[in-house]
Amino acid sequence: MFEGFRLFPDQASTVARDVDLLYFFMIAVTGAAVVVVCSAILYFAVRYRRRSDSDWPTGEEPHHAIEYVWIIVPFFVFMVMFFWGAKLYFHTSRPPDGALDVYVTGRQWMWKFQHVGGQSEINALHVPVGRPVRLIMASEDVIHSMYFPAFRTKMDVLPNRFTVTWFEATRAGRYHLFCTEYCGTLHSGMIGEVTVMEPDEYQKWLAGGATEGSLSSEGKKAFETYACNTCHMTGNQARGPDLAALFGSRRSLRDGRTVVADENYIRESITNPQAKIVAGYEPIMPTFQGQLNEAQLMQLVAYVKSLRATGGTEPVESPASLTTNAGTPEQRQ
Ligand code: CUA
Repeated sequence: MFEGFRLFPDQASTVARDVDLLYFFMIAVTGAAVVVVCSAILYFAVRYRRRSDSDWPTGEEPHHAIEYVWIIVPFFVFMVMFFWGAKLYFHTSRPPDGALDVYVTGRQWMWKFQHVGGQSEINALHVPVGRPVRLIMASEDVIHSMYFPAFRTKMDVLPNRFTVTWFEATRAGRYHLFCTEYCGTLHSGMIGEVTVMEPDEYQKWLAGGATEGSLSSEGKKAFETYACNTCHMTGNQARGPDLAALFGSRRSLRDGRTVVADENYIRESITNPQAKIVAGYEPIMPTFQGQLNEAQLMQLVAYVKSLRATGGTEPVESPASLTTNAGTPEQRQ
């Protein structure tokens, strides 16, 4: 009778079961609260109903002990949800080391995925099974939201900054991906399919799919086209900071702050260079806001990241860049 009728999507990622357990716990607790409260209302309505016109409350104070119980017990029960949820949230917000980077652009009304090797796809994403995948996402227009029901992964995609999320698929197969933030007329059509493949099949897919150079080599081209290299160079004459070991490092700013050079830092330094000036340098860099599209920004970010892996001269272009990654800034400190 219920064939084909499923309340829950597949559990196809490392966190899917944990998210579902928390969800079931919350349903159980809130369901129990509904039953207890509604039963009490019904019982009291009957038990203490007004029996005659002269039936008035006596003004007796109830015992305080019973009030303490109904305040303190639910407090602790609901705090379980809070700590359980926070633990899961922290886990899902921190991509593990060695994650595979995929750059995602959302726009009205499609998703574009760019792999570091230069493969790109529209409304489709191919990933290997058993390997964390880190999505670095931005929107070219309004707010979108990337949602993989089978992975229990969802993250808003915003204009003018990167948001990051990750998942590790545990079962090969094909799953839905959706936009879950109303973004205009064709929002409901902003959907796609994620294909989880066995690692060797995935390697085959990668080998057949590169339409342009790797992201970092495209970024290197943009770096030269926009003459970034006239200021950002190695040596004492450099007017801008050397970018070789930049990614993931701690930067001391002129105003005394210290920040970590993550993807958003690099992006902001390109589109709004005055926002964070590194100590020892002058605020002379012009903004590139409006001159670079989302894809170029991602390529430049990939290029700057690749400099770290190679020690600063040439970007990583070998297939090795697909299997090794420096992880997130937080984890490297
Ligand atoms: Cu994009 Cu809804």
